[in-house]
Amino acid sequence: MKELDISSATSTIILISGYGTNLQAILDEITNNHLPIRILSVLSDNPEAYGIKRAKNAGIPTKIINYHRFKNKAAFHLAIEEYFKKIDPDLIVLAGYMRILSEEFCRLFTGKILNIHPSLLPKFRGLNTYQRVLDSGDKFHGSTVHFVTTELDSGPIILQYRTKIRTTDGPKQLRKRVQLGEYEIYPMAIKWFAEGSLKMIKGKAVLNGSRIFKPKILGLENSKVT
Ligand code: GRF
Repeated sequence: MKELDISSATSTIILISGYGTNLQAILDEITNNHLPIRILSVLSDNPEAYGIKRAKNAGIPTKIINYHRFKNKAAFHLAIEEYFKKIDPDLIVLAGYMRILSEEFCRLFTGKILNIHPSLLPKFRGLNTYQRVLDSGDKFHGSTVHFVTTELDSGPIILQYRTKIRTTDGPKQLRKRVQLGEYEIYPMAIKWFAEGSLKMIKGKAVLNGSRIFKPKILGLENSKVT
């Protein structure tokens, strides 16, 4: 297999707060030589995040900016901004990062921040999406990769994984299935970005030169992007 030219790979920082299974999926794709990114560091606001262990196991530098060590939110945001300004990565990947980024941060790095949110956006922004979708009676649920803007879970949509809700589904079963889809769609969108085919231009997501009007959809049931 041809080795990746590391020097030209997209410099990336990944932010996490918890278990880091999406981080692991990304790390695995890099190992398999499918992702032309170079992870400069994995940053967490939570020193206990298991994802930090995953990063260390993969030999990736880690950085903790512990939210609870700061006297207020503004001071925490400033520390995050300072860290990123110093490193100035090509790409910032939010992978289960549970803090809201400051408006200043979103503006500074506009078009460079990706997030994955466990719902078929624009439905169910915010937390607790699995219970909320089950309560709603909707037939489908899933996850969305989008660019991050100053408005929470509202940036331009890139790609979604969609699955049919089963009568036997509780929040746990549904989450398990949706997360399997996340491990497919997140590396896919990151690859598009790293290869230069995905961009945010004038606030819109653009893939291969064309604006994404309707999100691309992947369902593991057919395992094909449509
Ligand atoms: C993911 O399911 C993602 O949709 C949401 O946070 C979860 C993080 O899970 N933003 P993990 O830490 O990657 O296991």
